[in-house]
Amino acid sequence: MAFPYQIKTLEDYHQVYRRSVDDPEGFWADIASHFYWRKQWNQVLEWNFKEPTINWFLGGKLNITENCIDRHLGTLGNKPAIIWEPNDPEEHYRVLTYRELHTKVMQFCNVLQNNGVKKGDRVCIYMGMIPELAIAMLACARMGAIHSVIFGGFSAQSIRDRLIDAGAEYIITCDGAFRGNKDIPLKSTIDDALVGIDFVKRVIVAIRTHTPVSMIKGRDVWWEDEVKKVETMGERYFPAEEMDANDPLFILYTSGSTGKPKGVVHAIAGYLVWANYTFLNVFQYERGDVHFCTADIGWITGHSYIVYGPLSAGATSLMFEGIPTWPDAGRFWEVVDKHKANILYTAPTAIRSLMGFGDAPFEGKSLDSLKVLGTVGEPINEEAWNWYNTKVGKGKCPIIDTWWQTETGATLISNLAGVTPSKPTYATLPMPGVQPLLVDENGHEIHEMEASGNLCIKFPWPGLLRTTYGDHERCRLNYFSTYENLYFTGDGCLRDENGNYRITGRVDDVLNVSGHRLGTAEIENAINMHNGVVESAVVGYPHDVKGQGVYAYIIYNGLFDDENLIRQDIIQTVTRIIGAIAKPDKIQFVPGLPKTRSGKIMRRILRKIAEGEIENLGDTSTLLDPLIVEEIKNGKL
Ligand code: WT7
Repeated sequence: MAFPYQIKTLEDYHQVYRRSVDDPEGFWADIASHFYWRKQWNQVLEWNFKEPTINWFLGGKLNITENCIDRHLGTLGNKPAIIWEPNDPEEHYRVLTYRELHTKVMQFCNVLQNNGVKKGDRVCIYMGMIPELAIAMLACARMGAIHSVIFGGFSAQSIRDRLIDAGAEYIITCDGAFRGNKDIPLKSTIDDALVGIDFVKRVIVAIRTHTPVSMIKGRDVWWEDEVKKVETMGERYFPAEEMDANDPLFILYTSGSTGKPKGVVHAIAGYLVWANYTFLNVFQYERGDVHFCTADIGWITGHSYIVYGPLSAGATSLMFEGIPTWPDAGRFWEVVDKHKANILYTAPTAIRSLMGFGDAPFEGKSLDSLKVLGTVGEPINEEAWNWYNTKVGKGKCPIIDTWWQTETGATLISNLAGVTPSKPTYATLPMPGVQPLLVDENGHEIHEMEASGNLCIKFPWPGLLRTTYGDHERCRLNYFSTYENLYFTGDGCLRDENGNYRITGRVDDVLNVSGHRLGTAEIENAINMHNGVVESAVVGYPHDVKGQGVYAYIIYNGLFDDENLIRQDIIQTVTRIIGAIAKPDKIQFVPGLPKTRSGKIMRRILRKIAEGEIENLGDTSTLLDPLIVEEIKNGKL
């Protein structure tokens, strides 16, 4: 059975797109009618970008897990929902059918309920990539609790900030996580995060690595024990909670241009429709296909294209615990062959790192099952695009370059695999319902087709964020106040004569390091915590594999006997405060920073120096002390 709202031809795309703009409410009502509702909505959309207020399918009642699991049981009950491939190729993989997933999610709902979790509670999930992570998310969603998944690479301090911000009283974690040859101690990081915090009522710990962990009486319980307790009470149906269409589904923290990460909030119905609609259309998923998204569920990509998008479509989602380069750089290809993956969706940084290993990792691999290749997270350079196309796709798989953000819920701009044309390094055309525009530095819309400017969106789509948790004003300021009545993405963008979009990178103080989003202010705050650091300024610079690297200029006045040791100390500090993902790649000690007379750091100059563009620094006439620039140039790493 084909999916009724899949776009199948280019003409079809143009027609559907037109309707989505001319009659958005009618368009989305038609799409939404294919989902399972307890109660039909009475208004499709209510919105203004001033406050902002964004609500979809008002008055509608549903539960996302009935859409992701229950409604498939009749036809797909025995089909795999999740195929899980472990880190170690020697360990056996696991398959969860839709029926098994249903049972396990309900079991875990009972566990959550027994441990005091109620509808509306915030539950923090800090786990490795094992099926229990998806089960935990879905169980929260089924009972109406709001999950907040934190990527396993974040430090205790980062977890603590997020727990406090979300007021999360419940935590689900693992003893540890396997990633490549590493065994990451998750529970002990949670223990560090909880020192001095007394509002957390329960920590549920799943066993994965058998690392010794402390279990605090009255607070910590084992996942397996709790499930056993539920099992001895017999198979118990756990009815899905009837939720309002606009109730929050989850919070996901992401970095912005200010120091503190913000909790992006997505609401149930709109997010469901958007994740599902884009999944089916962008990847052109067909019944029985195996969809392999290599992202970590700790990021939005994993939420939308490992869990909610595929499951809502009754797809088979391949979930991989490991990394592309362990035990060797052929691991992705081995996983593709082993499970006959049809769609591969990964990040340009992974592609670039694998390019470096040459042809050997492909020996003995067929990759014949692949039909569609996708990338996400950062701009893809032409060389990586071509390599992906010829080496992995053997020239026969359409490549989709999907542009989107944590805030957008799922893909906004992308070609549709094999349906609309691809163009290397271009995300190409907007999804139906998405109305992009470019603005110049004065905030005026650029009407010429071929242009470059800042990328904005002028009309809501179902997956748009609703608020930033606990601070709606921050949401307004961040996304809806730069340009009147527009959602501002923070990205710079080119548009070609045919209306294809190419996203060139952030124009705000946000870095994209290996597809991970980091705020420069956030990294500076962490560096400044180090004893001896007077002031710092962080900028990005082009990095062959990571896309962007972190370049830190630091004024240091502590004891300065061993420069390299100080660098290591600062890196340790950043790892403690944020996590290893934010470690500076380069640290240059400087006598001062280039500032304007009003005391503002001129980052443009620092960026140019870090990029190696020493000669042409542009206008430096407003500098307080031009000599500083000379000294910084001389000390460049
Ligand atoms: C930022 C969003 C999308 C989920 C993963 C990252 C950059 C994302 C692309 C792309 C060029 C891209 C943008 C965006 N980005 N996809 N296909 N081409 N740039 O989500 O952490 O919220 O980061 O990633 O700069 O603003 P995120």
